[in-house]
Amino acid sequence: MFMDEFAGRLGALRRLRGLTQERLADVSGLSVRGIRELERGRGRAPRPRTAALLADALLLAGAERADFLALTTARGRCDIDAAPPGELPPAINDLTGRDGELARLASLASPGIAFRRPGPAVVVLHSLAGIGKTSLAIGAGHRVRSGFPDGQLFADMLGGTLKPLDPAVVLGRFLRSLGVPDEQLPPTRAARVALYRTLTHDRRLVVVLDNAADERQVRPLLPAGAGSFVLVTSRRPLAGMEAVERLALGILTHPAGRALLRSIVGPRAIAEPAATAELAGLCGHLPLALRIAGNRLASRPSWSVARMVGQLRDLGTRLSTLTAGDQGVRAAFAVSYGQLTPAAALVFRRSSLLAPADFGVSLAAVTADLPDAPTAAALEELVDFGLLCTAGERYQFHELVRLFALERLQQDEPGRTVVAARARMVGWVLQRTGRSGYAGPVPGPGHDPMVS
Ligand SMILES: Nc1ncnc2c1ncn2[C@@H]1O[C@H](COP(=O)(O)OP(=O)(O)OP(=O)(O)O)[C@@H](O)[C@H]1O
Ligand SMILES: [Mg+2]
Repeated sequence: MFMDEFAGRLGALRRLRGLTQERLADVSGLSVRGIRELERGRGRAPRPRTAALLADALLLAGAERADFLALTTARGRCDIDAAPPGELPPAINDLTGRDGELARLASLASPGIAFRRPGPAVVVLHSLAGIGKTSLAIGAGHRVRSGFPDGQLFADMLGGTLKPLDPAVVLGRFLRSLGVPDEQLPPTRAARVALYRTLTHDRRLVVVLDNAADERQVRPLLPAGAGSFVLVTSRRPLAGMEAVERLALGILTHPAGRALLRSIVGPRAIAEPAATAELAGLCGHLPLALRIAGNRLASRPSWSVARMVGQLRDLGTRLSTLTAGDQGVRAAFAVSYGQLTPAAALVFRRSSLLAPADFGVSLAAVTADLPDAPTAAALEELVDFGLLCTAGERYQFHELVRLFALERLQQDEPGRTVVAARARMVGWVLQRTGRSGYAGPVPGPGHDPMVS
């Protein structure tokens, strides 16, 4: 019936133009399979956008074009009025210490702001592994979703892995979620981007792109219109993205760290306030570490908080204690470490000898045995990954990151190299004591129990 009529017209027009099905697919950006199905009168009727691409490729104009398009709109057209997608994973119930960030994200998502800009609101949440980027993005997505009636799209972009997702694959998923039938999925990335932009231009969507590797992975997935809200999480600030808000997440405050432990562990944490406070500190107020330590205590009802504290005080085993199965602080940091340039990895390992004090470029350069300029670039790369913090022109490790860097130093470099690096560092400090570069105590042999 209707589809037969459309199929007949499409085939006739194609032959009239002297096009094969393959050539029509090329020119229109649609798949050969999709065109074959349409010509057989199978499947659903084409979307208006698909019909328009076909009309363009067939060079239809005027009344002929209008007739052709009318076939897809007048009768029997099966629109992509699928239910709005709701792809956000469940939010965690005990999200702690992020009220300020949630309020900021809600205000960026508010429709009042949308009227003032032509494009979507895009926020990049970035920082160290395990700090809670994904948890916050999901929590914020749920909180604002009622303002976005066309649904929520979510994709783990696998940025921290060896095989980050190709944006064309994610586009395919998103287009399906928006109701595009398989047979009408365009085969090329460019055509998918075009269709995605068409479909998102007038929609109001929340789009969460979790764990993005880089800017190139994110750009094709930005909806076209001003009505959507995009949350990107990444371990890097994605400095090349234009017109985005960046939110560098920090570790939890001390009260929030204790509160999270109390909510996971329950009465024992309330009964042992001093030990709980110390435990939060030993976890460096890093949510991932707090979660693992808290879960461990929760699963061992006979343990006191103090017993867990005793375990974590041991610097040599702290990272191992903060591991649960294949989840753990060490594994999370290792992913970022694996992505560093060789110079940044070297500066990372060697600078662990300088901490816990903060340090400047020159001392890091001496310890890494590199000139100042590449050392400064390496330090900035480490800041980008959230592996170092800055205070003015000085750099500092998060304590758990420092322990990880020390482990890498021990495992990735021969002992004599470490001894030589330490000797250069001590020499430099003794020469310059009282001047800029190193604000901490002069380290001597045995300065840290982990490095012999
Ligand atoms: N604010 C928070 N309150 C309670 N738990 C949190 C909070 N933030 C994170 N967590 C917990 O910490 C762990 C790590 O969080 P999450 O996966 O969100 O970190 P991430 O920054 O996305 O890490 P990655 O860089 O590895 O992707 C999770 O178990 C999560 O439940
Ligand atoms: Mg994450």
